Amino acid sequence: MEKTQKKGTVKFFSGKQIPLEMHKVRIVQSLKLVPIERRKEAIAEAGYNSFLLGTKDIFLDMLTDSGTNAMSDEQLSKMMVADDAYAGSQSFVRFEKAVLDVFGKKLLLPVHQGRAAENIISQVFVKKGSVVPMNYHFTTTLAHIQLNGGKVVELYTPEAMKIKSTNPFKGNIDINRLEELIKKEGPENVPFIRMEASTNLIGGQPFSMKNFMDVRKVADKYKKIIVLDASLIGENAYFIKKREPEYFEKSIGFILNKMSELSDIVYFSGRKVSSSRGGAICTNNKDLYNKMKDLVPLYEGFLTYGGISIREIEAMAVGLYETLEEDVVGQSPSFINYAANELDKLGIPVILPGGALGCHIEAQGFLPQVPQKEYPAGALVAAFYLISGCRGMERGTISSIRDENGNDILADLELMRLAFPRRVFTLSQVEYLIDRLNWLYQNRNLVGGLRFVEEPPVLRFFTGRLEPVSNWPEKLMAKFRADFGDSL
Ligand code: F0G
Repeated sequence: MEKTQKKGTVKFFSGKQIPLEMHKVRIVQSLKLVPIERRKEAIAEAGYNSFLLGTKDIFLDMLTDSGTNAMSDEQLSKMMVADDAYAGSQSFVRFEKAVLDVFGKKLLLPVHQGRAAENIISQVFVKKGSVVPMNYHFTTTLAHIQLNGGKVVELYTPEAMKIKSTNPFKGNIDINRLEELIKKEGPENVPFIRMEASTNLIGGQPFSMKNFMDVRKVADKYKKIIVLDASLIGENAYFIKKREPEYFEKSIGFILNKMSELSDIVYFSGRKVSSSRGGAICTNNKDLYNKMKDLVPLYEGFLTYGGISIREIEAMAVGLYETLEEDVVGQSPSFINYAANELDKLGIPVILPGGALGCHIEAQGFLPQVPQKEYPAGALVAAFYLISGCRGMERGTISSIRDENGNDILADLELMRLAFPRRVFTLSQVEYLIDRLNWLYQNRNLVGGLRFVEEPPVLRFFTGRLEPVSNWPEKLMAKFRADFGDSL
């Protein structure tokens, strides 16, 4: 297996602490910043839902890192040697080798993306009455577990909900509560324990190896399997290396392998972990593999392509090896850390410490005048797009669901996520982002709430449409023009 290089940090003579890009840009895509008047039309056309904006109206697309990380020259070149075959493709053999080298797992099931893995795992293991403990849910995970009649119980620690914290591992699961839950519900009703690396919805926060080893002890005691969502595992491994003293001297490869070793089933979105498309489930347990295997041809495609283009399988294999490189998995966290600290200096409520995948702005602190039932995170995303052309994602109550009485289940946190796909943006673009957020914060009293006008019953945040509760977008635009003149 490739070893990660031991890295020092580059210190600037000036004493400035800025992240230095360890890559060069060789293919570029032009960006346009349309005037605020057009942005105002565009966000209204999109029903104030950033998912419904078109990229022609977007300057910095910070919706997600899913399928948008920059690909490497190695990945692109390997795509050219893809062995297209319905069955028995040698590209799949190379993918199997990469999974074995990186995760130490021999049995591999390809799926078209992460949620397809969740569909298969939930169909096989979850039934009516099942209770699935986890550090935190992801939207698609929750939906699949519920569709199969199960319930999710999140066992995060109190630290996880603190906006400003110095706790390095806010993604940890509460071990005592985990054991209590298994005892209370009865081990027979707990099909598996799920751990999510770099816990997405609470700000990309990692769990520690120590915590994961403790989860393993509980799992062994009650003979439960552990399912690891490895979609953001590279960054979690990077944080373990940077923040957990026992691992300072260990390579990312070593850490990844150990995390995988502690898990019975590992699944991932290739759109994230390997900067490609696709996804997979892997295990060393033949029984578990056999239980899941037949669903792959049914929902995805044959066992050697799983609904993924063979070119992307090649890219996924190379991308997995690249997660062993500290410069690759550390690039997004180092930019996020820079942005989060600069925003914090400006008094803007931002999740600290900086996590993986994005910089997360805390919308209730940013917009205290907007009640949670008027979706402060959604309002902040719409307002920030309007004044900057940057597209973020709502990760708050709009991304939540309603209870059986039709009331919103208010999210634990109202976040605007500004994703930093790996190796995509430059530092001056980050400076622009900080500048515009600073302006918006100074003018935050102009922003109001949103309400639904069209609301789909499942995963409503994707396609739901909203409207502002007042004419606040007009007022915000007028103030922007007054302050910035004819600037874009
Ligand atoms: N698990 C985690 C932790 C994720 O972040 C995602 C996707 C999935 C599973 C599902 O994978 O999209 O390939 O089906 N996260 C994306 C995001 C959508 O924007 O955070 P998928």
